[in-house]
Amino acid sequence: MVDYTRQHFREEEQYMGSLGFSGLEAHKRLHLNLLTDLTHFIEDFEQGSSDRISDDFTIFLKFWLSTHIRGIDTRYGQFAEQQRQQTF
Ligand SMILES: [Fe+2]
Repeated sequence: MVDYTRQHFREEEQYMGSLGFSGLEAHKRLHLNLLTDLTHFIEDFEQGSSDRISDDFTIFLKFWLSTHIRGIDTRYGQFAEQQRQQTF
């Protein structure tokens, strides 16, 4: 899961870089924070401190899915659309 997420973030950052997206550096830091949190949750689970997914992890995933992917990532989608329209 961490490898998949890291790969997804890397590809997203490359795409943002190719667009010249001004918020790239801030977005990279956000990705790094998310990866750090994700790694900690998985380490806790693997160390057996919990036999179920914690409420904190559920909240984290909700934030990641609803706020990050649907909210923040759509901003650079809009940026990409503006760039596309300016070239035509
Ligand atoms: Fe992202």
